[in-house]
Amino acid sequence: MHARKVTAIAYPNIALVKYWGNRDHTLRLPSNDSLSFNLGDLRTTTTVEIDPSLSHDEVTLDGRTIGGAAYERVVHHLDRIVDSVCATQEVNGRSRTRMRVTSINTFPMGVGIASSASGFAALTLATCTVLGMKPSEAELSSLARLGSGSACRSIPGGFVSWHDSFAITIAPAQHWNLMDVIAIISNEHKTVSSTEGHALAETSPLQAARITDTSRRYELCRQAIMNCDFAALAEVVEQDALMMHAVAMTSQPSIIYWASTTLNILSAVRELRESGVPVTFTIDAGPNVHCICEQHALKQVKQMLWQMSGVIDVIQSGVGGPASVIAQSHGSHDDTQQVTPFHISPKDRV
Ligand code: DP6
Repeated sequence: MHARKVTAIAYPNIALVKYWGNRDHTLRLPSNDSLSFNLGDLRTTTTVEIDPSLSHDEVTLDGRTIGGAAYERVVHHLDRIVDSVCATQEVNGRSRTRMRVTSINTFPMGVGIASSASGFAALTLATCTVLGMKPSEAELSSLARLGSGSACRSIPGGFVSWHDSFAITIAPAQHWNLMDVIAIISNEHKTVSSTEGHALAETSPLQAARITDTSRRYELCRQAIMNCDFAALAEVVEQDALMMHAVAMTSQPSIIYWASTTLNILSAVRELRESGVPVTFTIDAGPNVHCICEQHALKQVKQMLWQMSGVIDVIQSGVGGPASVIAQSHGSHDDTQQVTPFHISPKDRV
């Protein structure tokens, strides 16, 4: 008998070579390869429970029942996973037993840290396990990708490469003590979702040049990671982020994710690096700046960020491992580990 209730955890990831644009939007097959590392101090914990008494799937995120497009995206993902096993299960896409999904993030919501990568990675692993599937890591990564592209990189651990349909580890988490120090910016900046950004990428005349150049950046970044060469990493990571944003800015319609504080932080990061501190920046689909540094530079980087006006919060994480199942139960005996949301107060951070 397989489990009726499974809890899985996954970490978000930060891309060093960015995924931007799809060659197939429905399947989320990317236009270019990407490289990332998992953020092991931030985590999503997701429990999926099969409950025959439910008339529809129930989805709770950080204690709130969700509806609308976010709910549909989760339900569609459950359908997809069930469909992939329906030949061997008594369930199928239409009349399948409904599930209760409960997901908790240990990082603050609504501050622009994408939770879709860790969210869909944990959801995929918990759902496959509760359905009695035993997918390989590559199969899990492929399935997670269908929910959110970058989620495929949150299935394997450590430093991760995503090529085409799935992602693999290129170096374990312990390989290099990198930190991501995320400056959260106080700005009412309206962010265009990454899904919308991917859809517009092709409308920029710069996207073709960016794609053609990806293998060069990818190889430079891969080698910098393998050799733990921070100077080489800094150069390629900044260029890659700026190329992604150049595409977004020149898409039609144009997307400018940056706020004025974003630009101030980019200058401050470069100044700090020129003074000898190993720190570099990257930016996702929003105004927040991810400052990547070596662990011994952590204090100086945080001090620099807390001094900047417009920074409302600073969140840090080291490199993390793969997604994993942390609890299973088979019916009346419930051995699911209790998980409580985690709050970091600003005074703990410097
Ligand atoms: C800028 O994976 O969030 O963070 O597939 O539509 O869910 P969807 O997009 P998503 O895109 C991530 C974009 C990025 C760069 C990256 O993580 O590689």
